[in-house]
Amino acid sequence: MAPIATAQTVSDADIADLKEAVRAATLQHKGDFPLPPDGTLRRYKKAGIDLSEGYPYVPKAALGGGVSRDQAARVDEGAGETSYVDPASRADPKKNALLSAATKVDHLTQHIGTEISGIKLDSLTDQQKDELALLAAERGVVFFRDQDLSPQAQRELGLYWGQGRIEVHPQAPQVPGQPGALIIWEEGRPKNWGPSARSHRLPYGGGHYGWHSDLSHEEFPPGYTHLYQDSVPVTGGDTLWASGYAAYDKLSPTFKRLIEGLNGIYRSANVYPDTSKPNAAPKPILRKHPLVRTHPVTGWKSLFVNRWWTVGIEGLDGPEATIILDYLNDVFERSTDIQVRWRWTPGTSAVWDNRVVNHTVSFDWVGDRHGTRVSSLGEAPFYDPKSKGRAESLGLEEWNGADYDNFRFSNLGLQ
Ligand SMILES: [Fe+2]
Repeated sequence: MAPIATAQTVSDADIADLKEAVRAATLQHKGDFPLPPDGTLRRYKKAGIDLSEGYPYVPKAALGGGVSRDQAARVDEGAGETSYVDPASRADPKKNALLSAATKVDHLTQHIGTEISGIKLDSLTDQQKDELALLAAERGVVFFRDQDLSPQAQRELGLYWGQGRIEVHPQAPQVPGQPGALIIWEEGRPKNWGPSARSHRLPYGGGHYGWHSDLSHEEFPPGYTHLYQDSVPVTGGDTLWASGYAAYDKLSPTFKRLIEGLNGIYRSANVYPDTSKPNAAPKPILRKHPLVRTHPVTGWKSLFVNRWWTVGIEGLDGPEATIILDYLNDVFERSTDIQVRWRWTPGTSAVWDNRVVNHTVSFDWVGDRHGTRVSSLGEAPFYDPKSKGRAESLGLEEWNGADYDNFRFSNLGLQ
């Protein structure tokens, strides 16, 4: 049998024409971007991606800085919640079709993260896709090494999970000819976004350490989100995820009651001009969502805050909201027991449920780090007062520990 062609078997000579095409287009247009990594070009060569217009593709409105609030607000246009049926709702709760096809299933931590071996994502049946969605909804993030995934196949998966609704960002760099296949590549940031300001001393300004969920300000923020890394630095560049279910479960019953039913205020990363007010300064988009949201399929409550984009709480004064949000974000960011840290290898996919996890990158790499992300849009976030936390729902008694401070004070004879 002939060996199966993979992106890794595409030779240097095979990608020479792509390099020449990108160089020629770059000279002709802007000269803003370096050549993408060789591993990326091999993948694109095999996938037949046309780079004759240069790389990456950046929407023209973004290059001119002229994306209006209306355009930005249309990122999730057509994503009506009534039309969305989460694919996980169709899945066999045991997930036999998916798990029985795997050679190994490794739960990386107690509360978040599962690695599956022996499965190729571009040959999943619909039943397996549904079950993978459910697994991501339950475990937060699922990893697959040794993939050989074209941008087209990645996009098709996202369209399946989003029922035809994926985020097509009006500004972010994308794979040419593949709308919605966003490029995660530090060197591919458009220069008119301003300096990335990322240095090893201070990778993120504002003291938020990078933890976030993607596009939390949108009306229908992404659910199933799939990052495929085709080029990976030899050292560093790990990604970390933290469980929103477990972050919620860590709160005391009294604190849970305090925040449940409240709406957070979420802002967009970018600011946009209002075309109806030509003289007004550009502003971010702000939107309300519940601080504690219910997952539509697992039915579990998840903390839905992130230090980067949750900027207030409806009904509370700024300083009051700051105290509460700081604490909730501390739970996410400081609780290493509800986090998983992932070491990438080339050709690895991470599929996470953006509704119930936060994530960040460890900005410590030198060299190539390039991937593509497809985000399937979810439902409008909602809070069901009758829903339960994951620990309560699963009867995880180890979560019912004594309050540490009461224990400590009683030992000291102070109570
Ligand atoms: Fe992200």
